[in-house]
Amino acid sequence: MANIPQEKTLDNSIALLQEGYTYLQSRCEKFKSDIFQTRLLGEKVICLHGEEGAALFYDPEKFRREGAIPEFIKMSLFGKGSVQSMDGSAHRNRKEMFMSLMSPENMEKLMELVADNWENYLSRWEQTNKLVVLFEEVQEILCRAACAWAGVPLEEEEVRMRTDDFIGRIDSFGSVGPRYLRGVFARERTEKWLENIIEQVRRGELEAEEGTAVHMFAKFREPSVSGGEPEELDAKSAAVEVINIIRPFVAIAYYVAFSALALHRHPEYRQKLREGDDRDIEMFVQEIRRLYPFAPFLGARVREEFDWRGHHFEEGRLVLLDVYGTMHDARLWENPNEFRPERFLAWDGSPFDLIPQGGGAHHTGHRCAGEWITIGAAKVSLKFLVNMQYEVPKQNLNYSLKRIPSYPESGFTIRYVKRLDSDKPGGGNEKRSAFRGSVPLADRGACPYHKMKDIAAG
Ligand code: HEM
Repeated sequence: MANIPQEKTLDNSIALLQEGYTYLQSRCEKFKSDIFQTRLLGEKVICLHGEEGAALFYDPEKFRREGAIPEFIKMSLFGKGSVQSMDGSAHRNRKEMFMSLMSPENMEKLMELVADNWENYLSRWEQTNKLVVLFEEVQEILCRAACAWAGVPLEEEEVRMRTDDFIGRIDSFGSVGPRYLRGVFARERTEKWLENIIEQVRRGELEAEEGTAVHMFAKFREPSVSGGEPEELDAKSAAVEVINIIRPFVAIAYYVAFSALALHRHPEYRQKLREGDDRDIEMFVQEIRRLYPFAPFLGARVREEFDWRGHHFEEGRLVLLDVYGTMHDARLWENPNEFRPERFLAWDGSPFDLIPQGGGAHHTGHRCAGEWITIGAAKVSLKFLVNMQYEVPKQNLNYSLKRIPSYPESGFTIRYVKRLDSDKPGGGNEKRSAFRGSVPLADRGACPYHKMKDIAAG
């Protein structure tokens, strides 16, 4: 049995915190290996990188999620009892609830809500000479759209606070100091808020429209662990799952901020995208998701011992998949650090190389339930951006690969905003039809990319 290359230092948690997104890939390069072993928070950890590493990581026979997410991350980012930590049939049942929200009609409804909110905000920006911090404003656009879609009442005066809480939770995941504490506080407040809404729906004091996430999780009955009658989800878990839809939807603001940055650094795309078709818009968004940082890595534990490429994996061993590094691997992506949306013309749709939201199958595996609506909302937002004119004053647009999660430091600030013409997205009555086709179109009911269909079917 071949030894797995090993980090010599006693514990590498500090190095990981200091190096951020590039920690795993730089070790793979040092060892010239797609697998290496390190020690994090006192525990031995195997790290996997690359397309084959991802394919292994997403084999549900080999890995489980229970016990893979550290408690301190559940305390801020995810909450307890969420789908992310489930396995087997319990995971499938819960995941199917999320996927049932992703019907073409329902996704289209969400895209229209996103477009309507963009429209309102754009009108406001046009009427002011003040600076507009795009990252913050887009968070609100997305929060309003997601709450309306999920059936969560949102009072006008609470929009910023709720948005801040969702962002605070996301912003906490790579930190140990005040950012983390803010995330814990935000988790408590959002869970209380949503728990109360679920209870009101159950008592009949609040009406939730059928087909919304609030209605679905309030009424959801899960097979009981003791084998008896299916049981109502406790209000807290139902709240956690509704939040599991709104919070990551607000996170799409990171991709929109990076889209604005990419347009700023590559202005030749403005015209191309205005004149191009939906495919051009989609390729640009795919390149944003590939190039810019969001999830650095993912974790799972070995179910039962097995061997892979001559390496032994012991039962219970924690394994990390290098998400960021795999999308910056020159063997998979030519000149990986260059922004080149056209690379997606030749992309074969592998479920294991473009993995910003996880890999493998959406319905049966842990791949992100919201990947299609993420692409869709990023596309709607990009259409607005390219059909707007604005000035980008001097500011700090750098983003650090040492900070998890990262975003342009200034939040991408603009001013003197104007829509370009009224018959394009961002203006006029054609707006709704202009947004048809924002969700990845290949097969919205099943999987957007052909290879995934085979995997989901298998
Ligand atoms: C910026 C946008 C987003 C990013 C970067 C993102 C990223 C991810 C990642 C990395 C995972 C983990 C995959 C794994 O464990 O293997 C995940 C899972 C998940 N995401 Fe997203 N996501 C985003 C948006 C969304 C949206 C809009 C939703 C709304 C439905 C959503 C719902 C979920 C759920 C429910 C899971 C758990 C899936 C499971 O464990 O089976 N995400 N996401």
